[in-house]
Amino acid sequence: MPVAPAGFPTLRHEIAGVAVVDLARQFGTPTYVYDAAKILERIADLRAFDHIRYAQKACSNIALLDLVRRQGVLVDAVSAGEIARALAAGYTPAGDPPPVVYTADLFDRESLDLVVERGIHVNCGSSDMIDQLGERAPGRSITLRINPGFGHGHSQKTNTGGEQSKHGIWHEQLHDALRRADHHGLGVSGLHLHIGSGTDLDHLSQVCGALERLGKDVGRSLTNISAGGGLPVPYKTGDSYVDIDVYYRLWDATRKRLEDAFGHAVRLEIEPGRYLVAESGFLIAEIRAIKQMGGNTFYLLDAGFNNLARPILYGAHHPMSVVPESLDGQTAGTQRRPLREVVVGGPLCESGDIFTQAEGGFVCTRSLPSAHVGELLVIENAGAYGFAMSSNYNSKPLAAEVLVRDGVPRLIRRRQTSEDLMRGEVIA
Ligand code: LLP
Repeated sequence: MPVAPAGFPTLRHEIAGVAVVDLARQFGTPTYVYDAAKILERIADLRAFDHIRYAQKACSNIALLDLVRRQGVLVDAVSAGEIARALAAGYTPAGDPPPVVYTADLFDRESLDLVVERGIHVNCGSSDMIDQLGERAPGRSITLRINPGFGHGHSQKTNTGGEQSKHGIWHEQLHDALRRADHHGLGVSGLHLHIGSGTDLDHLSQVCGALERLGKDVGRSLTNISAGGGLPVPYKTGDSYVDIDVYYRLWDATRKRLEDAFGHAVRLEIEPGRYLVAESGFLIAEIRAIKQMGGNTFYLLDAGFNNLARPILYGAHHPMSVVPESLDGQTAGTQRRPLREVVVGGPLCESGDIFTQAEGGFVCTRSLPSAHVGELLVIENAGAYGFAMSSNYNSKPLAAEVLVRDGVPRLIRRRQTSEDLMRGEVIA
């Protein structure tokens, strides 16, 4: 199990062995850089589980999907677009275990067509999905995603269980769901519970008991159970990891009790997003202005919530570091850097475009080394729900993405251009 860092550095020269200034000179800013070794390390942590299914919503660049696929990691898809990405990255649509699973609470028409045509396994989060799939593809095997009536996440917005959540089939409606599946000749081979993102061992452990009870109600058709995702990573001093060994043992015991009850093997899956990629990702930005507003000092970057929305959405805290060399080589790396309390913001025309904010939009300060315009600032642990949630707000192009493997940085997505921004638009 990884050990949580005692603290996070506020000065940084390199990422995965490559100088940050060289990355910025070669690829420009803002740029997301991913350290492949960190992803491989996190995959290795979870090897006890029979299958690791990557929740690609966390970061779905096809180069990362290809990287995890080569490690034997399966993939989850929540839209037709994510299915297309999985296939583009070399996943085969169907197999045992299913390489790609479509998990959602509804089918839009495009995704229903796609799962029917390509034989993609479906994890149904509503009774309507069961009926709609059953009408088009009777006889298939399906998974049921159940809302066990409780949930927990790092923010209320990432809690996916309980009455306030739209996710999954309500636990008291399991029998109705089974009847509907039967009616269409759909076999229920899988059961899936995911109570939230960025939760803790206490809450995650409660899921095992719920799954066991529900699993026994489903009965002997069950051959696969999924613990969902939700594993946290440390974002600030004092945060910790979940003890993976303890977590695995809880799930393994649950699986074994179901195997005893059914008299056949039950496969155990885990479905992490954040855990696999959060710590691999760094958003490199350039400090383009430094302003004094009353008592507050602002470092203003060329990256904003168009690039990383977690702070404005959840008040999420990301470690940050200053790169003590400027792009033009004007400042030397050896200078002393006293810490100062600063607010870090972006270029967007909106007051909420602040990376140092608490949930509710309250601006906070961060103790960061003194810096100059033209120097770089790195926002860290940004691999999960970073690029994946970026937007073109203010007509800002999507950032470039770079994957560093064995000390070699490779562009895995070029920065958007103004032509990309207007593609498909017409003056009618
Ligand atoms: N499985 C299902 C069905 C999910 O809905 C999710 C996340 C995962 C797995 C992966 O959860 P993870 O292991 O990453 O915690 N944008 C938010 C997180 C939203 C998570 C949505 N579902 C954030 O930036 O914190």
